[in-house]
Amino acid sequence: MKVLSGIQPTGRFHWGNYFGAIRQYIALQGQEQSFYFIADLHALTTVREPAVLRQNIKDAALDLLALGLDPAKATLFRQSDVPEVTELTWLLMTITQMHLLDKCHAFKDKKAKGIAADAGLFTYPVLMAADILIYDSTTVPVGADQIQHVEVTRDLAQRFNATYGETLHLPEAYVLDDSAKVPGTDREKMSKSYNNTIPIFETPRKLRKIIMSIQTDSTPMEAAKVPETCAVYQLFKLFGTPAQQAALADRYQAGGMGYGEAKETLYQAAMTHFGEAFERRTRFEAAPDQVEDILREGAHRARAKAREVVERVRSACGLTAKPV
Ligand code: TYM
Repeated sequence: MKVLSGIQPTGRFHWGNYFGAIRQYIALQGQEQSFYFIADLHALTTVREPAVLRQNIKDAALDLLALGLDPAKATLFRQSDVPEVTELTWLLMTITQMHLLDKCHAFKDKKAKGIAADAGLFTYPVLMAADILIYDSTTVPVGADQIQHVEVTRDLAQRFNATYGETLHLPEAYVLDDSAKVPGTDREKMSKSYNNTIPIFETPRKLRKIIMSIQTDSTPMEAAKVPETCAVYQLFKLFGTPAQQAALADRYQAGGMGYGEAKETLYQAAMTHFGEAFERRTRFEAAPDQVEDILREGAHRARAKAREVVERVRSACGLTAKPV
């Protein structure tokens, strides 16, 4: 299995990123190829302050390592350290039909809101396709919102192959049903753009405050409650073992438990789950050179593979395999 995924450094990672994607990155490390990158080129479509972007990239690396990404089992790198990916983007762009990009949600949503989108946002899925295809990836762990982009990637690979002969491998999205769409504090999909996120690395005091703000219905304390439609329970399910999930569901259904108590249970589960990651993050924070070395070494490995695939693609379309 050749695993690849990317995550944008557009702000602090949240539980949606973790359960929808990062936890799968970690579960899938140690495969024949396990490549994970910080999508800094994609982030340029929204982050326009260089100092902020620099800081976000550092935080992204620290967060991923702290959460358990192991450089001995996985390759971690910055997208922009593999410039071949922008070359492949162009080569793919020449076979990309406009209508394919017109319907992609990031662009479509902006257009629907009357916000002027730039060419970067419009062609964002082509860069993402290049990210995936340039490593001959077979498996792409993502949340539900990225499935459409993996479909576009497959379309582009097929179109390229139909035009120039079998050159690119078709990848598949790897999506876990239970965590494909993690709800935020307002019960909508958790997303930075909706301001409803629960950040992974938050101080205990702030974390408790955010958890206490999760919207619930107005069922009185004594009454029985429905666990499955409650965001607090849905989030707890992501942390708890089946037995713990069943125990909390029983308490909902029995009545006599207020939502405050369910939120406290969720808070405790999160503190336990991320406890070690907090400690690891502090250790990596104190060793910035080590983190930089990991990113450089990762880029080196990823780039070797990217060069191989780009040479194949260049030859397929009639260019010299390697630039002179
Ligand atoms: P990004 O940075 O928005 O999100 C990173 C990952 O987190 C997942 N995710 C969620 N999963 C479940 N529930 C949620 N509420 C939730 N919020 C976010 C996303 O699905 C994603 O897997 N375009 C990508 C980055 C990218 C990429 C790639 C991914 C660039 N190139 C190549 C895979 C392969 C993005 O913006 O993800």
